[in-house]
Amino acid sequence: MFVKPMHITETVLRDAQQSLIATRMPFDDFETVLDQMDQAGYYSIECWGGATFDSCLRYLNEDPWERLRKIRSHMKQTKLQMLLRGQNLLGYHHYSDDTVRRFVRKCIENGMDIIRIFDALNDLRNIETAVDACIQAGGHAQGCICYTLSPIHNLEMFVSLGKQIEAMGCHSLCIKDMAGIMSPQECYDLVTALRQNISLPVYVHTHATTGLGYMTYLKAAEAGAAGIDCATSCFSGGTSQPATESMVYALTQMGFDCGVDARALNRINNFFLPVKEEFSANGMFDPYVLSTKTDALVYQIPGGMLSNLVAQLKAQNAIDRLDEVLEETPRVRADLGYPPLVTPLSQMVGVQATVNVLLGERYKSIGKEIKSYIRGEYGKAPGKIAPALAEAVLGEEQPMTGRYAETLPPEFEAARAHLGSRARCEEDVLSYIAFPQQAEQFFDRRERTFTASYTIKEVI
Ligand code: CO
Repeated sequence: MFVKPMHITETVLRDAQQSLIATRMPFDDFETVLDQMDQAGYYSIECWGGATFDSCLRYLNEDPWERLRKIRSHMKQTKLQMLLRGQNLLGYHHYSDDTVRRFVRKCIENGMDIIRIFDALNDLRNIETAVDACIQAGGHAQGCICYTLSPIHNLEMFVSLGKQIEAMGCHSLCIKDMAGIMSPQECYDLVTALRQNISLPVYVHTHATTGLGYMTYLKAAEAGAAGIDCATSCFSGGTSQPATESMVYALTQMGFDCGVDARALNRINNFFLPVKEEFSANGMFDPYVLSTKTDALVYQIPGGMLSNLVAQLKAQNAIDRLDEVLEETPRVRADLGYPPLVTPLSQMVGVQATVNVLLGERYKSIGKEIKSYIRGEYGKAPGKIAPALAEAVLGEEQPMTGRYAETLPPEFEAARAHLGSRARCEEDVLSYIAFPQQAEQFFDRRERTFTASYTIKEVI
């Protein structure tokens, strides 16, 4: 049989633990399995970016850059991969271009190979600087299409995004289905259309949330996708990725060469079993996230967003209004030009829909973030903003036409001056720019630990 290659990206160190245990896995929990992971034959290991950076500083008292260097030191042959939110880097607002360029260069210098870069609105101007910096630094730039369903998101629009990603010089493209709503047939059609129109390898990223993930990956493979993202079985399923071992088993019988050693995968999973047990015992892992949730397929909104809406309404003692809010949510999304429902837009749309229902009048009160969005500060809306809403927010003002980042002054030198000797290297300054409060607290703790150990040594 003709053997077709299929790249497997293992996500246990980033997306899987982010989806199941709020990114709380300390480096010490997985250090001893890294050499085995390096030998297993994965195409890449997603191990950094996303929420890992914030979590290291905020909860784990780890220097995220040091974590990256340590992982790199164990990975002799396997590529390291990370997720980057374009101009937002690993944070939640836009950073200046000088920050983005320095940050991306430092990612590569500290050992990263592949940087997967996306913008929540698919406004590709917001990934251009990061993509360019990645290419300049010799990294592999993977441009993303955020997958969503709406009357304006069709194959034609996605192919046009794919062509722009190719023109930007990206080395590969990823279809990023963060909510697990892409059906097997939609995936087949999209991968096929992209492959007919662009020559970049196409990677598919989904979650098992709605139960479609495994089927979607099979159709991705049939359509000629270059690779898929999977999680070792004990960290798979539910809001995480489909299981690595199961996908490899099925794909191998279908004539794909996944490049991995099934016994090695089994040993790696055995390593992570007790790690997961620990998180079950301390309550961080809630088995609820593993159940299949099909609401997203009915309401066309991600599962996480639905649970947020329910929580909001319960807090307001208004859970009986849920049906009305679920009807209002797609209307608000349409008014805003159909933004993909990912962070932060999913929260913004959900809150506005709730407010519209509870106040009994649409847009009687308009959220601050929604106003910024309409002014163009998040990027360009995928579709047209409802004229009445645009006028209510903008009045005579014109929405921004350029990139928001262009209005931001350079940040690096000011941050370096502010930190003074507390910053030991450029990476520290970047940590501070990304998460000022968390980074300063981390530096203070680090200083105290250093002084303490120094004093003990003196006494001895
Ligand atoms: Co994901």
